[in-house]
Amino acid sequence: MIYRPLWVLIFIMALKLSGFSQGVAYLKPNPQLLNTIEKNIKDADGQYKNLAKQLGPTQFPKTYDKVSRKLETSNSGWWCSGFYPGTLLFLYEQNHDPQLLSEANRMLTVLGNEQYNTHTHDLGFMMYCSFGNANRIEPKPEYKQILINSAKSLATRFNPKVGCIRSWDSKPSDFLVIIDNMMNLELLFWATKETGDSSFYKIAVTHANTTMKNHFRPDYSSYHVLNYNPETGAVQQKKTAQGYSDESAWARGQAWGLYGFTVMYRETKDKKYLEQAQHIAHFILTNPNLPKDKIPYWDFNAPDIPTAPRDASAGAIMAAALLELCRYADKKDAIDYFNTAQTILKTLSSSDYRAATGTNGGFILEHSVGNKPQKSEVDVPLTYADYYFVEAIKRYKQFALK
Ligand code: GLY
Repeated sequence: MIYRPLWVLIFIMALKLSGFSQGVAYLKPNPQLLNTIEKNIKDADGQYKNLAKQLGPTQFPKTYDKVSRKLETSNSGWWCSGFYPGTLLFLYEQNHDPQLLSEANRMLTVLGNEQYNTHTHDLGFMMYCSFGNANRIEPKPEYKQILINSAKSLATRFNPKVGCIRSWDSKPSDFLVIIDNMMNLELLFWATKETGDSSFYKIAVTHANTTMKNHFRPDYSSYHVLNYNPETGAVQQKKTAQGYSDESAWARGQAWGLYGFTVMYRETKDKKYLEQAQHIAHFILTNPNLPKDKIPYWDFNAPDIPTAPRDASAGAIMAAALLELCRYADKKDAIDYFNTAQTILKTLSSSDYRAATGTNGGFILEHSVGNKPQKSEVDVPLTYADYYFVEAIKRYKQFALK
């Protein structure tokens, strides 16, 4: 009999409970990379404790300015507020450090207020990445109620004429939907499973179908923003907000689409979503502007490639998505997705991207881009880069399970 310490057994049980309980025979994690990422997770524990020390009672971390050495924070209403508690929970699951759990719980108490927020479409990011993980690790009636209320708030933004959830509030004649919104649908699927009310599921499927129809170009790259007529559902404009140009492929947008349609397939088992996710993967993986180390430039069409800034957040989201998509794809594609995710994890784990302990304001990764056209958060750490990096690490480790 193989002897395993108790914490290893608990860890294996936790991984099994978290969905993907087994490895895949032809997708073998690299032992050296497994060691490296195990060390990353240990180091991240210390980093996040540093981050925690700098926060006021209702502050959520946003980014860190290296020059002024200042942590930038937000209140709970910012779209990224769920990532910090979510990352703490992923780290807690892997490190079993009670300090991380208590910091996550402290933030959840502040974040709970957002369950009734009907002015944002980002409730999936905010509430599912935080309370969704908390409830997965230790289900509690109060978490469930907050998640159900959040799904109800999100559903108020659905317009049946358009067939989408409104992303950004704007003038009444506009109805703006961004590709990022695909990431909020997971919360709705959870709500149907939990309550038996199929209306959440139907909203998610309708939103995805409308997005599939209108948001993509023939090469399966996506526009960032679509403006629909709220009365007729007609498309009025296809444009960008955070990308280089209306016709360019903003890197994080491609990553949100990849992740979002992979979740759609997981939740519905409808093959058309798997095909969509694979088409998006094909666009990304065969793009001549994707560097060898697989961390994309902030926009696939940035005019100053190869000196354009990279976006570690897009790389991390892609890695997490590919490590799920490879479980659904045929062997040949699966190996391609797995190897790409592996390269991303290797690159992000290197000193090119992973901050030395005690630096970077406590964030794990450097070099992400928030909103380049607004000259905001360019080449900085970001909470969602850390969140999806840690999720990708967790997913990668699951391939080592027998
Ligand atoms: N959802 C906003 C962004 O990706 O920057």
